[in-house]
Amino acid sequence: MRHLITIADLDRATIERILDRARSFSEVSEREVKKVPALRGRRVLNLFYEASTRTRSSFELAAKALSADVVNFAASGSSVEKGESLKDTVQTLSAYGPDCIVVRSPHVGAADLVARWTHAAVVNAGDGKHEHPTQALLDVHTLRERFGALDGLDVWIVGDVSHSRVARSNVLAFTKMGAKVTVCGPPTLIPRDFEALGCEVRHSLDELPRANVVYALRMQKERMTESFVPSLREYAARFQIDGRRLGARQVLMHPGPVNRGVELSAEVIDSPQAVIGQQVAAGVVVRMAVLYELLAGRGAPRPAGATAIPTPQPA
Ligand code: CP
Repeated sequence: MRHLITIADLDRATIERILDRARSFSEVSEREVKKVPALRGRRVLNLFYEASTRTRSSFELAAKALSADVVNFAASGSSVEKGESLKDTVQTLSAYGPDCIVVRSPHVGAADLVARWTHAAVVNAGDGKHEHPTQALLDVHTLRERFGALDGLDVWIVGDVSHSRVARSNVLAFTKMGAKVTVCGPPTLIPRDFEALGCEVRHSLDELPRANVVYALRMQKERMTESFVPSLREYAARFQIDGRRLGARQVLMHPGPVNRGVELSAEVIDSPQAVIGQQVAAGVVVRMAVLYELLAGRGAPRPAGATAIPTPQPA
């Protein structure tokens, strides 16, 4: 595996190999000294053009737990504010010889473009409403830890599917792992062709009781250019997962951050069915496994300053 841009590039065997390794890294996270030398001397660059709490911090912890050197780059406060383009930024930072660039961007396709402009391995940490593959891997990991396997699991993904990169990556990952996936939300928040990804579509929660897993999505107000629901109050009345709708035996997931009182009520966030904290914790070991998969066994890093910039491909 050269880059991780989309779950579509991974088969079930590769997902299982990465997540088996993530499970073995759990032991490192429980040690007093939470470090192994697997990526000593390697450089990981976290390139974040969009806000993040979980993804950025867990990639940093993951890289440091593998003894890699980490640089955190946030667009805010950088020369991006003086007008430097993504391409010029990537090519400039590539002169430092990073082995891996983890990129988050509000733009669909940004990670794919970055991969054309650098010799480093590239991980898509979320590109607009396209994909968030490491979120999907950590969600599969969380479900494997809970159920052993996803085969035959009935998973409902509820909410703002249209603006969600998590929904797209998770439908691909969950179905590859044998789950039956249903997406549910108002017609205005589900793309018309979404069944083509291999899931069913519903516009009411009437059949929710059959689900083993309820995966709620955030209302992504920052990506909405128009009004997709009459009001958040009306959305919550029809689609909020609350104590009446969540069964005692159902597992509740959410990628975070949660809009409390919109897609989830406070009571279910703090209920025993919620595994939101386990999802966050899984982020470190799963991202360790992804970095290991991409970098361990690859050639020695190029000396800083000696990196030949590849000829840019047409965007
Ligand atoms: N789930 C997720 O990607 O969270 P952050 O935006 O905090 O990284």
